[in-house]
Amino acid sequence: MFCMPGLRVPFRLKVPFLPSTKEQTLNVIKLLEGHKGRLADLGSGDGRLVFAASSMGFQCTGFEIHSILLAYSRSKAWWRGIPHTDIHLVKQDLWKTDLSQYRNVTVFLAPAVMGALEEKLLKELPEDAKVIVCRFPFPHWPHSCTAGSGLNQIWVYDVHTARQPSRTSSHQSQA
Ligand SMILES: C[S@@+](CC[C@H](N)C(=O)[O-])C[C@H]1O[C@@H](n2cnc3c(N)ncnc32)[C@H](O)[C@@H]1O
Repeated sequence: MFCMPGLRVPFRLKVPFLPSTKEQTLNVIKLLEGHKGRLADLGSGDGRLVFAASSMGFQCTGFEIHSILLAYSRSKAWWRGIPHTDIHLVKQDLWKTDLSQYRNVTVFLAPAVMGALEEKLLKELPEDAKVIVCRFPFPHWPHSCTAGSGLNQIWVYDVHTARQPSRTSSHQSQA
């Protein structure tokens, strides 16, 4: 039922629901320490990364395309008494969402979409934004730090570094 959500999402960009493990979530929390600003979780599933980030004081928005997962995460937020001012859980296709107001982005998607996501985030995110990626790293961006190993590995990327002209030209010359 949760496998391939979003009838209008092109097949190459489809990502199944796979929840973050406990260790993965703890690694995300560890790497978010010291960050500030609004946070977007791209493909928020049952909301577990959003709840974890919200517990650290971030104002979070979870974008989720699957209605049942969204309803489930909203009911969990309601059950936990989390105010709407702290967490927004919205039914929205991440590929059609403008992310320019977010300084923190968490991502747990699939290898096939990470290249396309690099391009989207390079265009949209503010210069001081950080992207925290679970399990499947970006193919071209250099990471600033990492935590965990195997299925629980997390990478942090600085948009400023990813935009360095030397990186853009070496990326283009590889293409
Ligand atoms: C691997 S799961 C991660 C769920 C959650 N972030 C976590 O860490 O447990 C990926 C999620 O992205 C959602 N998703 C896939 N394509 C999407 C899209 N185009 N827009 C919004 N959400 C999407 C899926 O429904 C799924 O819930």
